[in-house]
Amino acid sequence: MARDTWFETVAIAQQRAKKRLPKSAYSSLISASEKGVSVSDNVEAFAELGFAPHVIGATEKRDLATTVMGQDISLPVIISPTGVQAVHPDGEVAVARAAAARGTAMGLSSFASKPIEEVTAVNDKVFFQIYWLGSREEIAERVQRAKDAGAAGLIATTDWSFSHGRDWGSPKIPERMDLKTMIKMSPEVISKPRWLWSFGKHLRPPDLRVPNQGRRGEPGPTFFEAYGQWMGTPPPTWEDIAWLREQWPDAPFLLKGMVRVDDAKRAVDAGVSAITVSNHGGNNLDGTPAAIRCLPAIADAVGDQIEVLLDGGVRRGSDVVKAVALGARAVMIGRAYLWGLAAEGQTGVENVLDIMHGGIDSALRGLGKASIHDLTADDILIPQGFTRALGIPAR
Ligand SMILES: Cc1cc2nc3c(=O)[nH]c(=O)nc-3n(C[C@H](O)[C@H](O)[C@H](O)COP(=O)(O)O)c2cc1C
Repeated sequence: MARDTWFETVAIAQQRAKKRLPKSAYSSLISASEKGVSVSDNVEAFAELGFAPHVIGATEKRDLATTVMGQDISLPVIISPTGVQAVHPDGEVAVARAAAARGTAMGLSSFASKPIEEVTAVNDKVFFQIYWLGSREEIAERVQRAKDAGAAGLIATTDWSFSHGRDWGSPKIPERMDLKTMIKMSPEVISKPRWLWSFGKHLRPPDLRVPNQGRRGEPGPTFFEAYGQWMGTPPPTWEDIAWLREQWPDAPFLLKGMVRVDDAKRAVDAGVSAITVSNHGGNNLDGTPAAIRCLPAIADAVGDQIEVLLDGGVRRGSDVVKAVALGARAVMIGRAYLWGLAAEGQTGVENVLDIMHGGIDSALRGLGKASIHDLTADDILIPQGFTRALGIPAR
């Protein structure tokens, strides 16, 4: 990667994303629910955890490779599904290429801007993420389409309530990017020539349709049409989750958004192969504790039965090491790669994955560990009162 485009930390990627993107596109990447208590706690909780390093006995090389949902990955970090990637014209295809180049897997949102077939064509480790949206028949059709496209498994997300009450104001997502909208947005867009050019040179405005919510080969509904359908769908029951799992029984199935031990146990009963401890990056119910605080109790309760992942607040390789030491098999990243994508497209996402790789490697070295598989809670300094064991009946 050219030195002038390379960035050293995720914080620098964020600064570049802020500089390059129109205000509303940037704010849709940072936004979270209400006061932003959960989104801040996701990040700050990692900083509360310390390390207990061995300074002698480090090995020359360290092993970062693992598997997630049947896929070999070169580091314990995969791409979390995120919707409407209008931050870059290549969107999810660029992200999938970057993940493939760095040997890792990707969750593809059903609110993505690119059709699943284009994404699986460049990365064979793609898990398709589904919302409980529409009738069972329509949901089964989406599962079938993912299967036909060669997806490696499914992610079901149930923890999204799309709170509008944001103290910093909700991002303005236009219904359609037509001439009228472009003229309306021109004052904020005109000051971002690089972003404008990235779309302009392809002669295509940002695509605000969600093609994976429609039929293969069709453009799909707009974000708000799909959102309206989602609002009109009754939330799923545990029976619905078990039904969804059965639609593709031989593929791995991850339930995204667990923070409670009792829910994690019910997920095991519903037949899932994996869960991610997550509060949707602070985009669901504000006041939900940081994912990393909820991880130890959940990993303790179900970690020997299913794969337990974590997402929320991961900005450094050392955060990944903390999560793995506290029981996560791997982590999923969201904003970190979106900022990389906004900053430098595919190479920016590769850069973020390299930052994660380098950070994990140096934290392992500092701890005197040869492998991510040797990490335990003993490597971490956990302050008193740090963890939150939710959903454990009081004795
Ligand atoms: C802009 C944005 C869009 C998102 N869209 C989705 C989505 O479509 N489906 C989903 O399951 N999660 C979605 N998420 C949540 C992420 O998958 C992930 O849980 C979260 O970003 C993790 O927190 P982090 O951003 O601190 O890494 C989205 C998050 C962001 C920031």
